[in-house]
Amino acid sequence: MQFHVITLFPEMFTSPFSGGIMARALNNGLVTIQTHNLREHGLGRYRQVDDEPYGGGSGMVMRPEPVAAAIDAVTARHPGLWRVLLTPQGDVLRQSLAAELARREPGLMLVAGRYEGVDERVRELVDQEISIGDFVLSGGELAAMVVIEAVTRLLPGVLGNQASLDEESFGSGMLEYPQYTRPEVFRGSAVPPILLSGDHEKIRRWRREQALERTRRRRPDLLVKNPRG
Ligand code: ADE
Repeated sequence: MQFHVITLFPEMFTSPFSGGIMARALNNGLVTIQTHNLREHGLGRYRQVDDEPYGGGSGMVMRPEPVAAAIDAVTARHPGLWRVLLTPQGDVLRQSLAAELARREPGLMLVAGRYEGVDERVRELVDQEISIGDFVLSGGELAAMVVIEAVTRLLPGVLGNQASLDEESFGSGMLEYPQYTRPEVFRGSAVPPILLSGDHEKIRRWRREQALERTRRRRPDLLVKNPRG
């Protein structure tokens, strides 16, 4: 899967992907990440990309022409990408949306806004607006990286073990059950004996109960949206 990011800060996109699963997926050629500098499509001698808001108010707003030019340039060379604008006003990223995005071959075009906002007409240039949560970042770059990571780990061949995808939080619509490893007792706190029992059916049921109980207590909203418990 290809990721094409339109951004004023392409240099931000190197180190977050230089370790772990992302680095391996890149090395194996399962994903590619290309950045496209929005500044190259800026207007005039100063390659301006933003301007004052009509109607007044504080802050600057990204102009539509450079964004449109960048989107057109990427589309001309890489047709068929699903175009996403990162904005706090978009569809909230959830595991189910990440899974949908993972099926968007040949890949995603991620437009990272900056400044106080983007001209409303930029919305007409994309297929979807996505938010990574109800908080405000200074720009869409980190949000684009979150999308890239959440989507990449769902692609076939990226994680060694498909089962770990199925069991983890949200894959089942619930939070994950508590996990333990060695030592058996840590600072007076012991591993639940059932996990040492060797009874796999009992362990499976205990884990399911724990996941359900934990979800009820911490994230009851998940059970309302996804009443599988
Ligand atoms: N840009 C600024 N804040 C954002 C958020 N929460 N999600 C996506 N893009 C953003």
